Amino acid sequence: MTTPKIAVVFYSTYGTNHQVAQAAADAAREAGAEVRLVRIAETAPEEVVNGQDAWKAQLDKMSDIPVVTAEDMEWADGYFFAAPTRFGVVASQVRAFIDTLGGLWQKGALANKTFTATTSAQNPHGGQEATILSLYTTVMHWGAIIVAPGYADPVKFEDGGNPYGFSTEAGAFGDTGRRSVAYQARRLVEMTAKLAG
Ligand SMILES: Cc1cc2nc3c(=O)[nH]c(=O)nc-3n(C[C@H](O)[C@H](O)[C@H](O)COP(=O)(O)O)c2cc1C
Repeated sequence: MTTPKIAVVFYSTYGTNHQVAQAAADAAREAGAEVRLVRIAETAPEEVVNGQDAWKAQLDKMSDIPVVTAEDMEWADGYFFAAPTRFGVVASQVRAFIDTLGGLWQKGALANKTFTATTSAQNPHGGQEATILSLYTTVMHWGAIIVAPGYADPVKFEDGGNPYGFSTEAGAFGDTGRRSVAYQARRLVEMTAKLAG
């Protein structure tokens, strides 16, 4: 069996999605994948970032994590995305990155890859499901194979039960979340390995 290559791609302003992505990367490695943990570049103006201590501190904290490139997307057999909810869809930083991938899409380099997503929002029902589904709509255009967690593991009955992908309230990522993310990452690795043969 070939070793599946998984890109864990995230954007995080205040840290929650960074924590989720780190947990996903650890779990995917443990499940036997080769993993790249990569972050989506900040697009907000420097003066805006520097105007908020928490935002600036998080950006500094991630400075040793490479910024995702088209080459990472081409390299991977499967993707684990983690990104915040903004008004019911993903943060614009994520959309800005996705909008650079037209060339890869055109040459078929995004097709037949597995994809799963997670998110966080301030409120318990602040748009988490809609955010994940909006990403899934996009990756259907790529020809990706969506690996949703469903309720195929008991942890989904403990973690709030979002069957589209793990979601949490901002700043509330804890032990149950970690187990749920580990399950989702493991499932991604297993399905990717099956497809790779
Ligand atoms: C512009 C903006 C829009 C947001 N929209 C929503 C929203 O619609 N619903 C919600 O519950 N939280 C919303 N939030 C809160 C974010 O989802 C929250 O900051 C994020 O989940 C934290 O993730 P992070 O720590 O990885 O940055 C919004 C935040 C910002 C800055």
